[in-house]
Amino acid sequence: MLQPEPTVGDTSWFTRDRFGLFIHWGLYALPARHEWVKHKEEIPDEVYEKYFKYFDPDLYDPGLWADAAAGAGMKYFVVTTKHHEGFCLWDSKLTEYKATNTPYGKDLLRPMVDAFRSRDLRVGFYHSLIDWHHPHYLVDPYIGPYRNAEDRAAMNEGRDQMKYADYLHGQTRELLTEFGDVDILWYDFSYPQRGPEGKGRDAWRSDELVKLVRELRPNIILNDRLDLPDTPGAWDMKTPEQFQPRRWVHVDGKPVVWEACQTFSGSWGYHRDEASWKSVEQLLLMLIDSVSKGGNLLLNVGPTGRGEFDERALDRLSGMGAWMKRHGRSIYGCTQAPAEFACPQDCRLTYNPTTRRMYIHVLAWPFRHLHLYGQAWADRVEYCQLLNDASEVRAKGLEQWQENLGGEAGEDEPSVTLSLPIRKPDNATIPVIEVFLKE
Ligand code: GLC
Repeated sequence: MLQPEPTVGDTSWFTRDRFGLFIHWGLYALPARHEWVKHKEEIPDEVYEKYFKYFDPDLYDPGLWADAAAGAGMKYFVVTTKHHEGFCLWDSKLTEYKATNTPYGKDLLRPMVDAFRSRDLRVGFYHSLIDWHHPHYLVDPYIGPYRNAEDRAAMNEGRDQMKYADYLHGQTRELLTEFGDVDILWYDFSYPQRGPEGKGRDAWRSDELVKLVRELRPNIILNDRLDLPDTPGAWDMKTPEQFQPRRWVHVDGKPVVWEACQTFSGSWGYHRDEASWKSVEQLLLMLIDSVSKGGNLLLNVGPTGRGEFDERALDRLSGMGAWMKRHGRSIYGCTQAPAEFACPQDCRLTYNPTTRRMYIHVLAWPFRHLHLYGQAWADRVEYCQLLNDASEVRAKGLEQWQENLGGEAGEDEPSVTLSLPIRKPDNATIPVIEVFLKE
């Protein structure tokens, strides 16, 4: 069975819990047309300032957010303490560009951390390396609102990127010392490959930053966006974004801890007009698909400027929760199935190595029979049931199956054939068959 490479941070809980909530929240909730709006529409600081002036999420109640996440079956969350726009959700001593200085006037992060912890969710911080507001961040042509070279040259006069790096390190220290035991740190992102003014490990002093993080929180899980791909111990997990990998993510030929991050509709920040919302079924399939390849799913909500999850998000979360309530057993503690078990047609397999149970997720409901081919299935299947209601699914070996059809099955490969109800179970968006294996 495949196991991920060992990590410096503690990933043991992470590879068990599998499902988390990403939260992108900042001033960009007000324009409500993508968290990159400042870059996309080339909005200069003085114009973007209006969102700071009017930011007042009066309906914010993080207890409701934590309930929605827990209800969906999520076990951890990762929130944008600061996104690329530079605005900070907590009362940082190192900047005035923070929630406490908006009309709302209060720290947004601390009550969120408390609410999620009180529902037993683990805590993760996303923190942007990029900063479109800090006075010492060197403005570059690739990322940020300033495309005109002359404007940039004038703006960069007197800027010192190392002073920005000090700020980044200082804020990291605040985040990792003032909020108790933070479980995940998610930096975003480096772009040295974009050109001569691109930013990577030197712009952030990444080596030093990793040392600081490991020293302050030895168990923390660190993501992979500090531009230190080859430095041992500089990252714990890979973070494929907005796509599902073809197979378990490998680095240098070895499987690693990984987590796909995904949106409901494309934008990470609240987007009022986006129409490409994924269905509950599609989202569940992304979760199942990740676990079947040894990975996690971090699914994002962009709360509104009033401080709420909108109806579309709540609808998806509760739909996933209804499935998770009965099918969480095929997700938590599960991973990729051992290679000797061939995946049946139109299915995804997950496997719990502790309980030795296999989970067959049936993506397209077949007519009456599901065939499990190969010696491993033939030798090891002991008992099968539908997971939604624990109703028995009868299994026949090849001989019985042949006999059953008067010898007309035309099969000689070792196999097990499962007898399914004609109708797909009503309360299972994606039905799962739980298979108890013999030793
Ligand atoms: C990106 C984007 C961003 C989002 C993030 C999530 O790199 O810049 O807006 O926060 O990915 O993975």
